[in-house]
Amino acid sequence: MEQMKLRIAIDSDDAATGLKKVLFDYLKDQGIEITDLNYAETGSALYPDIGYHLAKRVQEKEFDRGILLCGTGLGMSIVANKVEGVYAGVCHDVYSAERLRKSNNAQIITMGARVIGPELAKKIIDAWIHSEFEGKGSLPKVERIHELESKSFHDSEGGTGDSGVSV
Ligand code: RB5
Repeated sequence: MEQMKLRIAIDSDDAATGLKKVLFDYLKDQGIEITDLNYAETGSALYPDIGYHLAKRVQEKEFDRGILLCGTGLGMSIVANKVEGVYAGVCHDVYSAERLRKSNNAQIITMGARVIGPELAKKIIDAWIHSEFEGKGSLPKVERIHELESKSFHDSEGGTGDSGVSV
């Protein structure tokens, strides 16, 4: 089964340690390759640092996908999207989790432990794990995000200041 080969990292701040354990055990029990980075133990306990740390490891292709949990899912999503080539979205329903993969090709899902309960979180993760990017009509839109991202990240780095992307 293709999904079993996915290397998934998970982490959370202190607002979501309980949900992290529930989802870690849930995925581990299914034989899915899941790693708890537990950055708060050796690094910072702040959600921006925890989220950035995981997103960088996805960027470096150490992991295919990531799950980031905090109180609302919002802060983790914001910081993960600061890493070039890494895309994250908050999902508190099954449909969004499926579309996050199928339409947006985002590698990272974020959720808030103060927003949803563990049983719904498991269903959301199931939908996300078993969905892949569909391409088709979504491809030019995702490619456009990549262009705009490149402009945003690199236009201020010198040279002509023009990445060739017009907005
Ligand atoms: C607590 O630090 C809370 O702000 C955090 O868990 C998260 O909800 C931020 O978006």
